[in-house]
Amino acid sequence: MVDHQFSDARLASLYDLFCPWEDRGDFSFYLPLVMSAESVLDVGCGTGALLKRARESGHTGRLCGLDPAAGMLEMARRCRGVEWILGDLASVRWDRAFDLVVMSGHAFQTFVADDDVRASLDAIGSALTDDGRFAFETRNPLVREWERWTPAHPAEVTDDDGTVVRMTHEVETPVEGDVVRFTSTFTSPGWARAEVSRSTLRFLGADSLSSLLDGAGLVIEEQFGDWDRRPLTATSPEIITVVRRR
Ligand SMILES: C[S@@+](CC[C@H](N)C(=O)[O-])C[C@H]1O[C@@H](n2cnc3c(N)ncnc32)[C@H](O)[C@@H]1O
Repeated sequence: MVDHQFSDARLASLYDLFCPWEDRGDFSFYLPLVMSAESVLDVGCGTGALLKRARESGHTGRLCGLDPAAGMLEMARRCRGVEWILGDLASVRWDRAFDLVVMSGHAFQTFVADDDVRASLDAIGSALTDDGRFAFETRNPLVREWERWTPAHPAEVTDDDGTVVRMTHEVETPVEGDVVRFTSTFTSPGWARAEVSRSTLRFLGADSLSSLLDGAGLVIEEQFGDWDRRPLTATSPEIITVVRRR
């Protein structure tokens, strides 16, 4: 089972409502990178919004989305002009196939154990062409965003049929180390019962991330603290990183 709050088919159909393109600063960072690369792999592509938008914007090269959540990929497959693959990095192997690999929407944080991170970075490194780049972000642990993931901060959307769905999060405490476990509860007046999903995310600090990247033979080329490319500081919300093979 995929450990992610939107992996179920009904919840996957709500993902783009909870995370609409217009509210996402990350896509304005990633889309130009995608448009300027000939071949692109989106790992943890979810509903495929980034690659779909790239195709609609005139990208003519290879676009490939990979995600282990069947519900998410079902949404992505509504766009036929992209290669969609159900699976994770352990189920595929590419050798110098992509000029750009991206992981947006904090998908990188689903790699929890060090071995998981190492194996994923190894697979991504192999998939990159000699001049290829891997661009991704992870939330800055120093900002402790999970402390705002409480029932006091609900989000609400209305789907095309007028159904209102509310989402709240609750973090398992105490949070130990850099791993955060939480539940997401979705409720709607029209549903017989709530849908509850569990997620686990790793909040790697910049130093630990650097050393894991180094161990995988990847060199940091650029690093930013937010989507407007400002430098990374202790209070930055994101650790946005672009790496290449050593
Ligand atoms: C928050 S969503 C982000 C989706 C998309 N990248 C975006 O920016 O909207 C995280 C995605 O990571 C996927 N995921 C979970 N575990 C994964 C893994 N081990 N490898 C790759 N993707 C994974 C989930 O299925 C989910 O679609």
